[in-house]
Amino acid sequence: MDARRGDVLIAPLERAWPQFNTPLRLGVMASGHGSNFEALVQASQERLHAQIELLVVNNPGCGAQQRAERLAVPCLVHDHRRYSSREDLDRALVDSFRQAGVEAVVMAGWMRIVTPVLINAYQERLINIHPSLLPSFRGVNAVGQALAAGVRITGCTAHLVREDVDTGPVISQAAVPVLEGDDHETLSSRISVQEHRILPWAVALIGERWRSGG
Ligand code: GRF
Repeated sequence: MDARRGDVLIAPLERAWPQFNTPLRLGVMASGHGSNFEALVQASQERLHAQIELLVVNNPGCGAQQRAERLAVPCLVHDHRRYSSREDLDRALVDSFRQAGVEAVVMAGWMRIVTPVLINAYQERLINIHPSLLPSFRGVNAVGQALAAGVRITGCTAHLVREDVDTGPVISQAAVPVLEGDDHETLSSRISVQEHRILPWAVALIGERWRSGG
């Protein structure tokens, strides 16, 4: 159990990180800054037995794309503005991930609603990270929602993706206290630190289940 005062309340990593016959082949989707993407790349060089095969971004030139260049991770742009429907965009994503031999996909700050085209292609292997303790504060601006509600504890959740936004089975969570004087920026940045911990762990757990035929 890792608990540091003022940082994280509860976020146990219950056991050793799984090792596979061959590294898990991962795809990542991101729209913005890309810090969770980079955390996955770093984890894959340490305890997460995985290889990031492909990053897909929908916003050309976004932070995530720049990080991919720096980290030498293959990156494709699928600009949603060039697709006539959500399903068409998701078909392009699935094609790209399949071509890259991806086994599981992480939505690491993907700011688009996904459809059954993607969800069914990666059933039980499509993971999202959200900055609240779900089921509280689904949807956009979860940190702002938590501040407005006046909760004293919030956090982050890695979960499997279902059609309803920010629902789906929880894989891992970390609780983060709301401190006196916190604003959106300070609280977001402490939540972000915890996202970078629990997301690789969630991938390891899902990878373990997938590789063992579950
Ligand atoms: C994270 O807070 C994540 O929970 C949400 O979008 C944000 C992405 O941050 N879905 P980053 O782009 O990974 O830095």
